[in-house]
Amino acid sequence: MAHLEIKGGRALKGTIRISGAKNAALPILSATLLSEGRFKLRQVPELEDVRILIELLRELGVSVQYREQGTVFVDSSKLESFEAPYDLVRRMRASVLVLGPLVARLGKARVSLPGGCAIGARPIDFHLKGLELMGAKLEIREGFVEARANRLEGARIYFDIPSVTGTENLMMAASLAKGNTVIENAAREPEVVALGRLLQDMGAKIKGLGTDTIKIEGTKTLRPATCTIIPDRIEAGTYLMAVGAAGGELIIENCVPEHLEAVILKLKAAGLKIKVIDADKIKVKRRRRLCSVDVKTQPYPGFPTDLQAQIMVLMSTAGKLSVITETIFENRFMHVAELKRLGADIKVEGRSAIVRGVKHLNGAPVMATDLRASASLVLAGLGAKGTTIVQGLHHLDRGYERMDEKLSAVGARIKRVNGTPVQEGKMS
Ligand code: UD1
Repeated sequence: MAHLEIKGGRALKGTIRISGAKNAALPILSATLLSEGRFKLRQVPELEDVRILIELLRELGVSVQYREQGTVFVDSSKLESFEAPYDLVRRMRASVLVLGPLVARLGKARVSLPGGCAIGARPIDFHLKGLELMGAKLEIREGFVEARANRLEGARIYFDIPSVTGTENLMMAASLAKGNTVIENAAREPEVVALGRLLQDMGAKIKGLGTDTIKIEGTKTLRPATCTIIPDRIEAGTYLMAVGAAGGELIIENCVPEHLEAVILKLKAAGLKIKVIDADKIKVKRRRRLCSVDVKTQPYPGFPTDLQAQIMVLMSTAGKLSVITETIFENRFMHVAELKRLGADIKVEGRSAIVRGVKHLNGAPVMATDLRASASLVLAGLGAKGTTIVQGLHHLDRGYERMDEKLSAVGARIKRVNGTPVQEGKMS
């Protein structure tokens, strides 16, 4: 098994280019199921999650061709199947994004239920209730949700909590439904807006993108379109925080500063120097030890849950005491035990983690437990004294394109090593 070996304590210097957003690429690839014809997608990140979704699309009979530099051509004119098997959905929950488009286009879908995941139960009841309100007949059989509808009909849908993939699934379904759909308390994330823009280019009539009320007037057919995947705000936020952990100065290019407002404000409050130097460039610098700030994760435009683990690393060596509250997922503190192995002083009480800044972290072998937790361990390793070994890289590779290469190009001493690491203190 490959692992990362990080020798901490080296300040970063240079420029990092941000890749296309995983969470925008997944719904956009799913939306290609809604129409015959050839789509051209640019800046599609080469990530494990994207590969899984492409594998699923191919199983459904979709033709997917990779070209150089993240350009992908997708053509679902010859859809052959309407089933998303357990093996793929189990590997990536977001596979459920094919449910709405399949029922809308074919009038039927059979999609495995995703089950639990490392960061919580993560149900899909909002997706299912929304489709039922649109007239789909649903049955749960043998671990699959089976959905049928002659043609979906517009409906008024209210989410108890704004769900990102729930909003996306229903927005796609509603685009081909008969009549008008209104989604209230909808997610406002930039990735939802990006999907909505693609749907508009395909001929859907959608209003209210980026607000909590999205109105969709369904149409009988849609057409293929071309789109560039928006830059990954979570990747950009992670590299801003890499400077917080390791020190130094970076330019983050190909990002959308507006998508990072809450993150930038929080990091500035913690003492990082951050300046937007161009429409798509941010300069970040750490001059001194950071100070503690409290953080509460919220749906967009609040502080993202996908950066909670990373900011916890910064707080673990900051001046005083920080309270980090996770409001989105119930079990998203799995990185705490690993950070403690590096010497962090963190106590979890319910949905909050109380982080007391220590002078420095010390390198140790650690195990990644989920995608964002793995990024946090890399940041911790960059700032720690000595060597940190990060195992469980399949999590990191799900959502970060070439993270080790990008970091080593700006001076980090990080390398991917094949094989099981030699355990410290192990007697031969
Ligand atoms: C998406 C992102 C993920 C991010 C999360 C929150 C993708 C592919 N993934 O995940 O990276 O961490 O948003 O920003 O875009 N909920 C229900 N029932 C449902 C759906 C959701 O109760 O049917 C709850 C969830 O348990 C959670 C909250 O709603 O507490 C928000 O989850 P949601 O926005 O749906 O997360 P995902 O779309 O799965």
